[in-house]
Parts: sequence; C-alpha cells; structure tokens
Amino acid sequence: MNGKLTVVGTGMTAISQLTREAEHCLFTADKVYYLVTDAHTETFLKQLNASAECLKRHYEPGTGKPRLWAYQDMVEAILAPVRKGLSVCAAFYGHPGVFVYPSHEAVVQARREGHEAKMLPGISAEDMLFADLGFDPALPGLQTYEATGFVLLKPAIDARIPLILWQIGVVGLLTPEPTPSRKNLEALTDTLLQTYPSDHDAVVYQASAYENVAPVIHVFPLCELARQDINALSTLYIPPAMRADPDPYRAELLGVRLTDLSLSRRQGSGRIPGQAYGLTHPEKPGWVTGSPSPHGSAPA
Ligand SMILES: C[S@@+](CC[C@H](N)C(=O)[O-])C[C@H]1O[C@@H](n2cnc3c(N)ncnc32)[C@H](O)[C@@H]1O
Repeated sequence: MNGKLTVVGTGMTAISQLTREAEHCLFTADKVYYLVTDAHTETFLKQLNASAECLKRHYEPGTGKPRLWAYQDMVEAILAPVRKGLSVCAAFYGHPGVFVYPSHEAVVQARREGHEAKMLPGISAEDMLFADLGFDPALPGLQTYEATGFVLLKPAIDARIPLILWQIGVVGLLTPEPTPSRKNLEALTDTLLQTYPSDHDAVVYQASAYENVAPVIHVFPLCELARQDINALSTLYIPPAMRADPDPYRAELLGVRLTDLSLSRRQGSGRIPGQAYGLTHPEKPGWVTGSPSPHGSAPA
C-alpha cells in the first residue's frame, strides 16, 4: 500500500525556527518521528501530534553498536508505517538534509518502494554561524567538511578560504558514546597545522537554542584545539589565514576591473572577507570568550 513520507527540519532554536509548512506537516501526519536536541521542541512536537515518537533509542550508547546501524534502524522505524499506507512526518533538528544520514536514506528508500516522499529544508548550524560570526560565504567562498572525513581523506584545503569543520566532538568515533571525546583532536590539529600557522585563530562555535542565551563563540590559537571545551554540538570555524587576491590575468580574461571587485583593497576596511566581524564586534563583547591573536589575519 502506498504511503507518504515528509522529512522536515525543526531549525536550531527551540520551536521558533519551525517553518509553517513543517508545522502543518507535523500536525496532519498519521505518525510523527523526531530527533531533536532540546526539551522544549520535544514537548512541542508531542503536543502538536500525540503520535510523536523519539528516534534516539536506536543509538543504544555504550553498547558498541555502530552509529550507521542506528541510522539504518531509524530508517526502518520511519518506513514501517509508510509501508502500511500511512502519512509519516520525520523531524530532525536543524536542516534535515545537512549531516543527517537517515533522513536522506528514508526518502530514497521510500521513493524506491513507490511511496511519495520529500524533504522540507530547515535552518542549519551553518546558517546560524553565518549570522552569529558575521560573514558571507559568497566572498571569498567556503570550505566545509565533516571532521572525521576531513582527517581520513585529508582534502586539499586553501588557507585563503574560510573553513568549517562539523562534528569535532566525535572525531573518529563510529559508535555513539554517552560523552563526547577529545581523543582524536590531536590528529585533527596535526592535519590542520599542515596548512595553518599554529597560532592562527580558531573558533569553537555553538548556536544557542534560546533567543535570550548568547551563542558560544570561543576564540583560541589553533594549536590549543585539543584543550578546548568541546561537545557534541560544537562546530569549528577557521577564518582565512591570508587574503584571497584575484589574479589580474583572470580578471582581464573576464573583462572585469579589479577596482570594481569588492575583494579589492578599495574597501579600505582592512578586514579579510570571511574573517567574521562577530569575533571582535564592539557591541557584542560578551560573545567572545578568547581574544583573536594578531596572527588571525595575514598581511595583505
Ligand atoms: C549530525 S549533525 C546535525 C546538523 C544539523 N542537521 C544542522 O542542520 O545543523 C551534528 C553536528 O552539527 C553541528 N551542530 C549541531 N548543533 C549545533 C549548534 N547548536 N551549534 C553549532 N553547531 C551545531 C555540530 O558540528 C554537530 O557535531
């Protein structure tokens, strides 16, 4: 029997970033599953739809069960009522398609079995980071990786482009643990120090779930990464270590004048794009729990 699956995101803040279309889907579904990080959203989902059921139990932390198996079990749980012809709404915090394996897998599998399935977007941790740290990924671009994959694959990175690393609290941990681990942060640091100076600024970022609570924006020298207070919701941001100057030959190829580019020194602010004004924003001194080193910006 054909059922229907809609995967939605609940955003990063408690309840307030839930979109109207996601709320409507949650309200009208025959069955709701959810994986969220704050108790307010959990209570709200249960009030919205009495069928709401948490997917966290599939992790079975401390048993050695691989996280991937837990995700497969979540997919099976989500698809079981879809296969009975019901309309199911599965809610994941943030954007449901950003660093969430079971959401994509459930949609793919549901479609493969002939059911109607779609994903609705939500506000992700990265979206919050752009707002809280204050930079635009348009200039000079953005590199974004999952931390374990970053160490394993060691992709070529460019020190002129901002870098975001996700899941730094579980580097190399393939089974869910009750507490985050610093075990492999040294390996992550070593990998990063092959590109950045040891005293280059790094930022541990954690978006706040509540409007009246400030986000965590902790600035420290990169070589001290393994000593930072990191948890399962921490994301690492590394600003550019040098200015990304456009190539004059390529500018000629495109027929653009360098002085017309916002990257050019005409800006006069001295700030390297991607360097995140939020770090030193004078009106928000409480946001910064460390002070940027003079090496945060390389000479122009
Ligand atoms: C499984 S992913 C989920 C991401 C989520 N779907 C999203 O859209 O942001 C978990 C990772 O997201 C990042 N993350 C989750 N909550 C965060 C928060 N409140 N602030 C900053 N990063 C967060 C961390 O890198 C964490 O390890």
